Amino acid sequence: MRKLLLLNGPNLNRLGKREPEVYGKTSLAEVESRLQQVAQDIGYELECKQSNHEGDLIDWIHNAEDEGIEGIIVNPGAFTHYSYALRDAVASVKTPVIEVHISNVHKREPFRHHSVIAEVSVGQIVGLDLYGYELALMGLIHFIKGVDHV
Ligand code: DQA
Repeated sequence: MRKLLLLNGPNLNRLGKREPEVYGKTSLAEVESRLQQVAQDIGYELECKQSNHEGDLIDWIHNAEDEGIEGIIVNPGAFTHYSYALRDAVASVKTPVIEVHISNVHKREPFRHHSVIAEVSVGQIVGLDLYGYELALMGLIHFIKGVDHV
C-alpha cells in the first residue's frame, strides 16, 4: 500500500490536555486514528509519530525518503519558528512535506508569525483547528497525484 507519514513535534503529545482553548480537547491518539482511517479509505497507509526531540523528527524525515514514503504531514510545534536543522532536513529530501498548525499562528505572539519550514514545504494549513490535519492529508495526496485542477 502507498505510504504517508504524519509527524508531530514537541508538546503535541499533550493535545487534549494542553491549553484546550487553543488546541482543543481531542487527544493526539484520536487525531491519529481518525486520520489513519481517512487515509485508508482513499488507499494510503498513514504512519504516525510524535517526538519532543528535534533529532528524532530529523531522522524520521530522512528515513521517510529512504523507505519510499510518498509524503509527510508535519506539525513541528515550536520548532517551526527557529529550527534551521529541521528546515534543512525537509530541504534535504525529495519527499513532499505539508506543514500544519492547529492554531492561527498569525493571530498569536509575534514569535509564532514566522516559519522557517514554510519556504521548503509544499504548503501550509494554519488555524483550522484539528480539521487542518485532514485538509493537509487531502492537499498532500492532491500534490502527489500531480493534479492541476480541483
Ligand atoms: C502549533 C503552533 C506553534 O506555535 C506551537 O509552538 C505549537 C503548536 C499549532 O499547531 O498551532 O506547539 O504548531
